[in-house]
Amino acid sequence: MVIVLPEAMLPYCRDWHGDVSTRAVAVVRPRGTEEVAAVVRLCRALGLAIVPQGGNTGLVLGGIPDDADHQVVLSLERMTAIRSVDPDDFSAVVEAGCILSVLKDAVAEQGMFFPLSLGAQGTCRIGGNVSTNAGGINVLRYGMTRDLVLGLEVVLPDGTIFDGLSTLRKDNRGIDLKQIFIGAEGTLGIVTAVSVKLTPYPDQVATALLAVSSLDDAIRLFRRARRDCCDLMSAFEFMPPLAFTLAREAMPALPVPIEETHAAYVLLEISGSGLVDIDALMERFLEGVMEEGLVIDGTIAASQAQARNLWLIREGMNEGQAKRGAHLRTDVSVPLSRLPAFIADAERAVTERFPECVCVSYGHVGDGNVHLNVLPPAALSPAQREAVIYEAKGIVNAVLDRYQGSMSAEHGIGRLKRDDFEARLPEARRKLLTALKQAIDPEMMMNPGCQLNVIKIS
Ligand code: FAD
Ligand code: LAC
Ligand code: ZN
Repeated sequence: MVIVLPEAMLPYCRDWHGDVSTRAVAVVRPRGTEEVAAVVRLCRALGLAIVPQGGNTGLVLGGIPDDADHQVVLSLERMTAIRSVDPDDFSAVVEAGCILSVLKDAVAEQGMFFPLSLGAQGTCRIGGNVSTNAGGINVLRYGMTRDLVLGLEVVLPDGTIFDGLSTLRKDNRGIDLKQIFIGAEGTLGIVTAVSVKLTPYPDQVATALLAVSSLDDAIRLFRRARRDCCDLMSAFEFMPPLAFTLAREAMPALPVPIEETHAAYVLLEISGSGLVDIDALMERFLEGVMEEGLVIDGTIAASQAQARNLWLIREGMNEGQAKRGAHLRTDVSVPLSRLPAFIADAERAVTERFPECVCVSYGHVGDGNVHLNVLPPAALSPAQREAVIYEAKGIVNAVLDRYQGSMSAEHGIGRLKRDDFEARLPEARRKLLTALKQAIDPEMMMNPGCQLNVIKIS
C-alpha cells in the first residue's frame, strides 16, 4: 500500500507533459474509504499534508506534491469498483479511482451513457474529474462534471466520512454541501465515491469534419447548428490547419480526409437515441450551410472507425504539442460572441512580441472555451523557453482581463495558476474561500499550496 522508493514514486510525482518532476515523503494507495480515513488520521498525527491523486492527467500541477519533506501523495488508483448501476434511475455509484472510460464502457453495456468525454478519459479517474470539475467535448449538450454529479462520499481532513452519496435528482434540504468539493482540487477533503447521472446511450452519432473561412464563420456555424439540429449537437470543436501537422507528429500514419489548406476547421458531432434520424439531420443541415457558403469543404464519417480517426486528429494535437517541448498552455473562456475578437487580439499581441513563436488556438469553442497555446521555436534552451512562456502568459492574461474572461475554463488552478488566480481574486471571494478552507481544514493538511495560499490557524 505504501511506496517510498524514489524511483517507484516518480510516476506519481511527475506531471503528464513531463515538464515538472517533484518528490514526496511517500505514496499511499488505500483500498477503501475506511483505509483512506485511517491514512488521513495517521498523516494528521504525523503532521504530514496529503496531495490526493487520481489519474495524474491534470494540467495545472494540482495532483503532484511541491514539498518533498511534508507531503504524502494519496493515490485513489486501487479504489476502482463500480458499486452499482441503476437503469431505472439512470444513475451509477462508483469509487473515485475508477477510470473514466471504464465507467463509460460499463454503463454503455446497459444501454446508458455517462456523458463526460475528454482526451484523457483512458487514464483520468472519476474522483479527479469531480475535483477539477472537468469539462471536455460534450459540455455544450450535457454540462460540466458538476452537472453530472448526484452525490459524493468524501473523507474530511479530520478523518470523518461525509456520506452524501444520494442518487436523488431533487433534494433541496438546505445548502447542497457536495458542491463545495466539486472543483476543490483536493483542498477540502478526499472524494472516495461519486454517484452520477446517466442518459440513454446515443446509438446514433453523426460526425463531420468541416472547413470554414474563419473563426467568425465557425461561430456563425455553431449558432446555426444549435438552432437547426434540434438541440442534438453534442460536440463542436474548433481546430486550425496546424492541427493536422501536430496530430501527424504524434501519429504519423493518421489519415486526413480533407484539404489541409483552409483557414479553420470544425469537428461537429450530432447524436441521439431512439426514433430520431441523426444521419438525415446531419445531411440536411450540411446541405443548407454548404449552399450558403458557410461551410466550404467537409467530410462526414461513414463508419465508427472513420469517426474515431477524425477524433484522433483533435486528440493528437495535444500529443503533438507535447512533443514540441515545453510551451504555454492556456485554458480560457470569454462570452462566445467575443471569442473571435479575443483570439485575434491575443494572438496578435503574442506574435508582435514573439514573432518566432507559433500560436495554436483550438478547443471547445461552442461553450466559449479556447486553448490558446504558444509554441516556442525548437532552438531555444529550456531557460529561454521558460522565459518566453512566462512572458507570453502575461500577454494573454492581460488581453483576457480586458475581455473579463476566465483564466481557467476547465482545468482548475492547481499550483501552476495560483499566483495569477490570487492576483485577480476579488476581496469578498477571497474572504469566503479562506473562511471555507479554515473551517474545514484548519491545519492546512489537504493539498496545501494548491488553488490558494491560506494561512494555518495556530
Ligand atoms: P489528477 O490529475 O490526479 O488530479 C487533479 C486534481 O484533483 C488535483 O488537484 C488532485 O489533488 C485532485 N484530486 C484527484 N483525485 C481526487 C480525489 N479523489 N479527491 C480529492 N481530490 C482529488 N480537462 C478538461 O476539463 N477537459 C478536457 O478536454 C481535457 N482534456 C485533456 C486531454 C489530455 C490529453 C490531458 C492529459 C488532460 C486533459 N484534461 C482535460 C485535464 C485532465 O484530464 C482533467 O483535469 C481530469 O479531470 C483530471 O483527472 P485525474 O484523475 O487525472 O486527476
Ligand atoms: C483539450 C484539453 C487540453 O481540450 O483540455 O484537449
Ligand atoms: Zn479542453
